[in-house]
Amino acid sequence: MKLWEGRFAAPTAKDADLFNDSLPFDKKLWKADITASVAHARMLGKCGIISADESALICGGLEKIYEDIENGTLEIQGAEDIHSFVENELVSRIGDAGKKLHTARSRNDQVATDFRLYVRSSTDTVIESLSNLIEVLLNNAEYGVKYIMPGYTHLRKAQPICLGHFFNAYAEMFLRDADRFYSSRKRLNVMPLGSGALAGTSYPIDRDMVATLLDFDKPCDNSLDGVSDRDFVAEYCFNASMAMSHLSRLCEDIILYSTEEFGYFEISDEYSTGSSIMPQKKNPDIPELMRGKTGRIYGHLMAILTTLKGIPLAYNKDLQEDKEGFFDCENQLLSCINIMAELLDNITFNTNKMKKAAESDFACATDVADYLAKKGVPFRTAHGVTGKIVRWCIENGRTLQNMTIDEYQTFDEHFDIDICETVKGKTCAEARTSFGGASPKSVKENIRSIKKRLSKYKE
Ligand code: ARG
Repeated sequence: MKLWEGRFAAPTAKDADLFNDSLPFDKKLWKADITASVAHARMLGKCGIISADESALICGGLEKIYEDIENGTLEIQGAEDIHSFVENELVSRIGDAGKKLHTARSRNDQVATDFRLYVRSSTDTVIESLSNLIEVLLNNAEYGVKYIMPGYTHLRKAQPICLGHFFNAYAEMFLRDADRFYSSRKRLNVMPLGSGALAGTSYPIDRDMVATLLDFDKPCDNSLDGVSDRDFVAEYCFNASMAMSHLSRLCEDIILYSTEEFGYFEISDEYSTGSSIMPQKKNPDIPELMRGKTGRIYGHLMAILTTLKGIPLAYNKDLQEDKEGFFDCENQLLSCINIMAELLDNITFNTNKMKKAAESDFACATDVADYLAKKGVPFRTAHGVTGKIVRWCIENGRTLQNMTIDEYQTFDEHFDIDICETVKGKTCAEARTSFGGASPKSVKENIRSIKKRLSKYKE
């Protein structure tokens, strides 16, 4: 039964129904819808808008529907949307009292409230998943304190870094993502219910009571805005997009570092795939797919922003388009975060290969220039001298590590025997003790700081 059929002489066309109905996807909101309706009914009773008996009958009926859906005895089907389904079901169970549930509300403030409840709980789940991922990254960072790897710029070897520094960098990104979801949650946690269709209501409702029952911080201050605000969906999709961008970069690093050419990381068999024709292959399908899904999530962000851009106040049916993209965004994001945590929990490292790579290809050249600069040679001059040394090494098939002290001294008299220690990869990484730097000491400080900032989400 349609909630609004009284005005119509003819039923809607079959294809119009199929086009219009949202039940196939908004049935996901059933818990939120029933929870919000129970709070609304309690308030109607308490404010004397319906009788206490009617209120109790409605709440009891709704709770029974909740149980029946939860244990699978009631299937959600045969209505325009989840709100109609629950109301029809209630009326069929308790009769006329059920018809009073919709007093002083509209589906417009109802759907806005339900969806906020749903997105709020999803936000909490995302923050929890991100926290778990950050903990796995921190475990890897702790392991990585003892090892060095090359750091890159322009994907050319730049300077040796501690392996832990790499993982902390991603932990920082995902912590920012958690912060973003957390701060969006504050803006989201405002209750539209009581906005009615658009203009509020003439019944003596108590919006504060409903807000408290539903754990909202407060009722919204403007009913027109209340029924049409979907900023929280766009914010969620943006936060998801940002997190996917971080995941995608991490995927790219993992794919690259696990190639035969780099060979620093080894993805475990459980998170790798093979080829149907090439027996030797161990492919990084999981991180590749995750990198690919990033485009899809960005798409959901663009879709919701575009849907919202031209809508006049207040509610318009365009707003029903806020859900499907969101649900997919949520699904994909959570599975990506969770699978990345598993993949990283099982990844192994070729620490020797990383160590060798960290010293080779003149990755320690900056430290040669710094060595001279610390002895009083102006940095720009020291840079020039070191550049000449590198060129000489390339022409003569030598490395910074196998040059003799005599050879160093032919380039500048400030070189002393300690230059041999200076150009070791480990020394270079250990030397970068500045705040936020790549040395084991700084990395340990960074781990402590991330743990402290993360603790807020671990209560
Ligand atoms: N299914 C609708 C949505 O998702 C519910 C609100 C319907 N309101 C209306 N005035 N048609 O937006």
